[in-house]
Amino acid sequence: MGSMFAGAGCLTAANVVAKGVPAKRPAAKDNPLVYPMRPMKAELSRELTVAIVGAGGRGWGYQGYGKRFPGTMKVVAVADLLPFRRERMARAWKIPAERCFCDYRELLAASEKGKLADILMVTLPDHLHRDATIKGMELGYDVLVEKPMAQSSKECLDMLAKQKETGRIVGVCHVLRYAPYYEAIKSAIDRGLLGEIMSMQHTELVDMIHMSHSYVRGNWRNSKIATPMVISKCCHDLDLVNWFIGARCTHVSAEGELRYFIPKNRPAGAPARCTDGCPHEKDCIYSALKTYVRQRRWTAPLDLPSKATDEQVTKILAASPYSRCVFACDNDQPEQYAAALRFENGVSVAFSYEALSRIGQRRTRIIGTKGMIEGGGIGFRLTELATGRSWDWNMKIQDIPGYETQGHGGGDFRLVRDFLMAVDKHDPSLLTSSLEASVESHLIGFACEESRLTGKKIRLHG
Ligand SMILES: NC(=O)c1ccc[n+]([C@@H]2O[C@H](COP(=O)([O-])OP(=O)(O)OC[C@H]3O[C@@H](n4cnc5c(N)ncnc54)[C@H](O)[C@@H]3O)[C@@H](O)[C@H]2O)c1
Repeated sequence: MGSMFAGAGCLTAANVVAKGVPAKRPAAKDNPLVYPMRPMKAELSRELTVAIVGAGGRGWGYQGYGKRFPGTMKVVAVADLLPFRRERMARAWKIPAERCFCDYRELLAASEKGKLADILMVTLPDHLHRDATIKGMELGYDVLVEKPMAQSSKECLDMLAKQKETGRIVGVCHVLRYAPYYEAIKSAIDRGLLGEIMSMQHTELVDMIHMSHSYVRGNWRNSKIATPMVISKCCHDLDLVNWFIGARCTHVSAEGELRYFIPKNRPAGAPARCTDGCPHEKDCIYSALKTYVRQRRWTAPLDLPSKATDEQVTKILAASPYSRCVFACDNDQPEQYAAALRFENGVSVAFSYEALSRIGQRRTRIIGTKGMIEGGGIGFRLTELATGRSWDWNMKIQDIPGYETQGHGGGDFRLVRDFLMAVDKHDPSLLTSSLEASVESHLIGFACEESRLTGKKIRLHG
């Protein structure tokens, strides 16, 4: 009997390598992990116009697609509470003053007489996603909304109901679905290279400084202000799990606890802020002075002036939440989380995150009846069970035209591209992270959190 991979796939990548086969490298056409990459530029019938609400890190990032591919999208209206961010967008796109708003509700109110653009991009803080998206749909916008979609299962289902009622194209920014690495795994699954999926293990290692920045000191530190970390950080992971398994989750149970970033671990004599002369500053892994001033890492939310001196950065840092002692914040997000998920097709998934990690990485193992995949977020290995032959997928996004400089493994711009095409053709099938597809991961995450807090197994579907 021939290899199960014979005849599968077609060529584009050079660095997909077969192991356990004769010394001669196999002809690329025989390589099952190679598939055609889609071009990054959207093919559109016309330039689409965009109104962006929330011109911070994400909003500013997505506008870059229109700059990179002129003629695809144009930002024609903006809303942001912060003048610096609003004005940066207005300057970049020559947006007239009457289309620049402070609060996003003002932009939506101005749309009552007629929408200002084809598309509304909702890149606001988590707690505003639901209202902005629902109102946007009512006003006739096609909407791209950041993840997490909303702050509860009910809010997510409200959004889905409105989408079905209005028929708008609504995409959720589950950008990892568009990263070549995850697309290659999905493609291998869909082409039957693993046979029937039996089980899966997926872990997100969260870089410890990322944890302290976002989930101890920053915007996502508290589940009641933002969403539980299993959603705010891991709805990407749960979305990938759901996408790969291709079935609905029937029930979940979860464990996890906040044990380290708590007042009990605050060293004696540590002041409330690292900038207040902490005696432990030099030895502390989480020193804000080390991260933000000396290393200049994670400084985006500080909106530093260009060429800021150490003194300027220290002053801005001291007035921000990011100088706070990590053991003296109003945080409640667990540093470790383990969940068991069961799906309608019988697949069991062990999902976890670990947030005191030296590195940030997503590790995935999927075992099927014919093959298994093991990956570390950048490259993965596919092994054929019957023969032991294996193939490595190790493409570097720097080598893929159009993906080189993009965030989330190349996923950020590909999402925009697919969303623009779906809007242009009014065809939601051109977009994999539709609102309907994305609701599932949120329902799973909220159910995990309910399980963690109550100690009960939670049933979702079935
Ligand atoms: N897809 C991903 O992987 C990913 C990554 C990071 C963040 N996010 C999500 O993207 C969203 C935005 O995150 P960000 O990092 O850009 O945050 P950010 O704080 O940099 O940007 C949000 C902006 O919204 C503005 N804003 C707040 N309230 C407003 C209001 N009422 N009206 C108008 N503007 C208002 C703020 O001034 C800010 O500039 C969040 O929901 C976040 O969870 C997603």
